[in-house]
Amino acid sequence: MTFEPAVLTIKDDLIAWRRHIHQYPELSFKEFETTQFIQKKLKTFGHMIIDRPTRTGLIARVRGRKPGIPRTIAIRADIDALPIQENNNLPFISKNSNVMHACGHDGHTAILLALAKLLIQDPCCICGEVRLIFQHAEELPPGGAIELLEAGSVKGVEAVLGLHLSSNFDTGIFGVKQDVLTAAVDRFDITLSGKGGHCAYPEQSLDPVPAMAELILALQTVVSRKIAPQDPVVVSVCMARTGTAYNIIPDDAAITASVRSFNPETRKQIEREVRQIASGIALSYGLEAVIDYEYGYPSVINDPGLTQLAEKTLVRRFGENQVMHIDSLMPGEDFSYFLHDCKGFFVELGSRNTAKGTDQPHHNSKYQLDEDALLYGVQYFLDMVRVMLNGVS
Ligand code: NI
Repeated sequence: MTFEPAVLTIKDDLIAWRRHIHQYPELSFKEFETTQFIQKKLKTFGHMIIDRPTRTGLIARVRGRKPGIPRTIAIRADIDALPIQENNNLPFISKNSNVMHACGHDGHTAILLALAKLLIQDPCCICGEVRLIFQHAEELPPGGAIELLEAGSVKGVEAVLGLHLSSNFDTGIFGVKQDVLTAAVDRFDITLSGKGGHCAYPEQSLDPVPAMAELILALQTVVSRKIAPQDPVVVSVCMARTGTAYNIIPDDAAITASVRSFNPETRKQIEREVRQIASGIALSYGLEAVIDYEYGYPSVINDPGLTQLAEKTLVRRFGENQVMHIDSLMPGEDFSYFLHDCKGFFVELGSRNTAKGTDQPHHNSKYQLDEDALLYGVQYFLDMVRVMLNGVS
């Protein structure tokens, strides 16, 4: 049998919790009701230590009673929603206008609640502590993970686990990737300042417009000429702002760009190249360049040992056909901050079912998740907890 009986008994609760959270989505850093709901539910399960180190988000500690050498592991779920008006026809559609759980975080939260209940029910199967991290604000940099990291949420933790539901894979398929899983997500703004004037007297101005054009083109050479082709990098100039009228040379021109990369060294190199190109072009035109370069979420790096352990555990439970080796993913994930203090493993869990219409992209107003995927998540975490907290050295 795929699922053990205890996991099957929680299915109705799991779906009810997920639907409640789906109906009342809240934006990043504003998950007040969601955190209240989580806390209220946890208190009905039995004894655990609950911490609220930030305004939203919550940490619950469950201690096991199995004898042996105790360890502590953490499991993290993100709880926030997105600024999207839901466009689905569901009985539990979002009741908060322009806010929607369109990334599956409602499912992540429900999975972690179900795990909490099962662990409390059967503390004899774990030796040590499971720290359940209900993390706020994954969708909005600087993100909630960094706050919880600084609050010591993974102090003394040996390993942290995380999961993301994904409409890119069929329901119940686990996507496993060793080492680099997600891209580092950075941005930069460059403002070129010159001197505006009458379009008919360009010699009296310092025109930033041709310089901006040259800058945009020159930035393309970072990827094509400076980085090895085997090293996947994106530099996309997505915004360009200048000018007010057809006959006025503007004072300034500004661009904004996104950068995605996987290698930490490459990441730093891109910043150096961007700065060099921008100041070089500005200098050649007699302009001034102000460069604002911001690092966003770093890459999620999956620990090799944990990846192997997870894969073995998944295959034993669900069979080889349910486990897929996947490529690195371009979206960012602030789970990466927890890996600053301990090793970790993050898995993708498929929730795509074309017949049910759960094949829409994430962050889309028609996004839905197949609730059958949730049980897979609960069973996976439960198996990992038992294997990792078995009390044996
Ligand atoms: Ni997400």
